Amino acid sequence: MAGAELILGRILGFAGDPFADGPGAARIDESGGVLVEGGRIVAVGAAEALRAAHPGARVSDMGGALISAGFVDAHAHYPQTGIIASWGKRLIDWLNGYTFPEEMRFADAGYAADIAGRYLDLLLAHGTTTVASYCTTHPAGVDAFFAAAEARGMRVVAGKTCMDRNAPEGLCDTPERAHDESAALIGRWHGRGRLTYAITPRFAPTSSPEQLDALGTLWAEHPDCLMQTHLSEQVEEIDWVRALFPEARDYLDVYERAGLLGPGAVFGHCIHLTGRERMRLRETGAALVHCPTSNLFIGSGLFDMGGLVDEGQRVGLATDTGGGSSFSMLRTMAAAYEIGQLRGRALHPAELWWLATAGAARALRMDDRIGTLAPGMEADIVALDLGSTPAIAQRAARATNIWEAVFPTIMMGDDRAIAGVWVNGTRVRGG
Ligand code: GUN
Ligand code: ZN
Repeated sequence: MAGAELILGRILGFAGDPFADGPGAARIDESGGVLVEGGRIVAVGAAEALRAAHPGARVSDMGGALISAGFVDAHAHYPQTGIIASWGKRLIDWLNGYTFPEEMRFADAGYAADIAGRYLDLLLAHGTTTVASYCTTHPAGVDAFFAAAEARGMRVVAGKTCMDRNAPEGLCDTPERAHDESAALIGRWHGRGRLTYAITPRFAPTSSPEQLDALGTLWAEHPDCLMQTHLSEQVEEIDWVRALFPEARDYLDVYERAGLLGPGAVFGHCIHLTGRERMRLRETGAALVHCPTSNLFIGSGLFDMGGLVDEGQRVGLATDTGGGSSFSMLRTMAAAYEIGQLRGRALHPAELWWLATAGAARALRMDDRIGTLAPGMEADIVALDLGSTPAIAQRAARATNIWEAVFPTIMMGDDRAIAGVWVNGTRVRGG
């Protein structure tokens, strides 16, 4: 098979959802292979059988490395790359003190292009091949991000972050501009190659009811776009929403009244939900995105992973950089594990890995294309060294089963664990 590449290693794939079907839904073939051609996964199976069946394929033998679908980060803010790890504030003060001043700089298209490229290169170095990112209010910053992703062949989601109140004037648009500038960006980028547009009201406090309505109208005009925003992250924020929207039943109702709830809605955080909000989220098929390093870093609260997955919610995982304190989905899995412990639910490594790959892809409604290694899927792949530091290696050496070998990398791993990355079938890191 001309041009085919056979990647050998310990192959991790999902036959189902480990929350619903148990850890056995994750399958690891200790001596397996993935055959890639034309940007797609053509076959997954035993290494020797694939070698014999495809003698012309170029072989990339990754030894004992774990071969997985690339990580999917279902909620992040690329414009906050430069202010990650900013000290000492909770959400509202953090936005006003660090985030908004930095986002003002994205009026400069050259600055936006520089950060967009740097950000996506950081993601690839950490094994993340898909991200759903907020941009800023400036259309040029959205152009910069999509152009940088297209140049790297990455499947990404992004949108212009719309705000028309409670933010600096330089970051505010209007209901009309939010609608029309977003519509123009949809026309330019949505569905082009691997790019998806998400209509992006930042969150209820920074949009007037009229702006939310305008974006609800836009979503009805473009129902195949995603819609991303924030929901119930901090208690002060929820009190503020109640004061700003006294007519709404609760925070989620603010979005629902504007036509911003339905399949394809992706809500970041979802920590302090009421029973009614949980019921409506589940009924409408919206996605909830857990951002554990952010929730710890900004002091937001402890996401109820166990309760939410048990009631059948569509849940994904994300860094939320730069409120989140890491670009790494390994570090993000570790924080999700730690929050799970505090909530009395020890997440299995298979569950954590699923959240960072197939689950996050499902939250973005892309699980038919990315998120696991199976024939027909797009070839976004990461290879991980399960002994990337002396501390990890000495623990992994004692492992008596594969998950015990993987878990130290989840808990202690970072970009040093990334031994190879393939985007759409092309190797872009390692080798
Ligand atoms: N809520 C509204 N905007 C933001 C943001 O940029 N980061 C986080 N973590 N929460 C938000
Ligand atoms: Zn966010």
